[in-house]
Amino acid sequence: MTAVPVRMSRIVEAFHTTFGRAPAFVVRAPGRVNLLGEHTDYNALPVLPMAIERSVLIAGAPRDDVSVVLHNATGFPTRRYGFERHIPPFEAGDWGNYTKAAAQGLADYYDAALARGADLLVDGDIPAGAGLSSSSALVVASALAFLAANELEIPFETLAEILPPAERYVGTLSGGMDQAISLLAQAGHALRIDFAPLRYRPVPLPQGYAIVVCHSLVRAEKSGAAKLGYNMRVLECRLACRALDRSLAGQLQRPLSALGELPHLFPQRSLSSFVDDLARVVPDVPLDLAQVATALGVPVAVLRAECGIPADHSGPFAVFRRARHVLCEAERVDRAEEGLRRGDAAMFGRLMDASHASCRDDYEISCPELEELVVLAQQAGAVGARLTGAGFGGCTVNLVADGDVKAFLEHIDKQFYGGRFTIGKSAEEARFVFSARPGAEVITISHR
Ligand code: GLA
Repeated sequence: MTAVPVRMSRIVEAFHTTFGRAPAFVVRAPGRVNLLGEHTDYNALPVLPMAIERSVLIAGAPRDDVSVVLHNATGFPTRRYGFERHIPPFEAGDWGNYTKAAAQGLADYYDAALARGADLLVDGDIPAGAGLSSSSALVVASALAFLAANELEIPFETLAEILPPAERYVGTLSGGMDQAISLLAQAGHALRIDFAPLRYRPVPLPQGYAIVVCHSLVRAEKSGAAKLGYNMRVLECRLACRALDRSLAGQLQRPLSALGELPHLFPQRSLSSFVDDLARVVPDVPLDLAQVATALGVPVAVLRAECGIPADHSGPFAVFRRARHVLCEAERVDRAEEGLRRGDAAMFGRLMDASHASCRDDYEISCPELEELVVLAQQAGAVGARLTGAGFGGCTVNLVADGDVKAFLEHIDKQFYGGRFTIGKSAEEARFVFSARPGAEVITISHR
């Protein structure tokens, strides 16, 4: 990792070399590590991430036409396209689509194509497919670069609401955590973020503990294979809403739009208590769509239409388990926030462990390498250890007492990376001690 000021001056120089002129601005959008609240955001339930040192930088200058010329300092191929009201995507999986997602989102917001194109040089040091949000950081950085090129401003809170639906351009049904933390993060703090509508507040991190992140070396690309597993879970949560509609019939004025509506509709009840309501309607086994439809007393075609289930998907859907995870995970975020405000690191660690077990057993987003890392972390004295991000690979996040960090890293390097890397060489590039960094920024470069 290279310090940001050094990377900034390097990218300014590299922009000169690439485009033969000076950049007008540099934007920075950080990646994030989620401490607790996994797969809750698209259910309109809270998350607890922090922004990290790793970021996407974009140096840029406006053009006189509507073309976007994108160079990438990390080796991805150059891309060109033009701003239009409706921007056709590159091939699925192309890195340029994340920038198009931002351009399309802004065109939708203004209901007009952006007027001025830009020459852009992109540089990032967030490992891709690691669950550290390299893709959303690119979307956020691109949006800020396009706004800067057009001398437009949108408040970061508003951008944090516009960009999550915009990112669905790449085909993942993601929630709003990654863009919100990249834009709104505060140094030294995690953020508790709530959705629909977006709200956030800083939460102190425990004193005397480090946040250590370890890559399983299994890449889970949001635009690749992990997309299907992710989107399936979004559909399962939508099916859980239909199951609760049935179970809570008579107590609801209209169908639930998200599990996150429950605390507003039933403020006197705990979220986890709705697990019993679910159990009355769906059994704790995976069901195909026809079985779900029978359990809910709804025709398959209606369920498909209401939940947006594509014609080529008929399950199996683990509706009960997925919803149990989401409901209990959101409750854990509430308890973690209370614990952290009291400085109770041990309690926070226990909640991280419980979250991992639930991600593994109920949400089924772990993999053998993540399991190995969590067991090793426990052996090495982590106060809490869990997978972080979408899962299916990527990283674990660990809460480790400052005094134990050195021994922790030695243990993981030897037992996990030792067999996979030459110790002391690439292992250093796979596990990180992160501190909580501030959110995105736009720096105007003055030319005197
Ligand atoms: C990905 C998505 C987020 C969130 C996490 C899981 O990072 O982009 O919106 O759903 O997975 O918590």
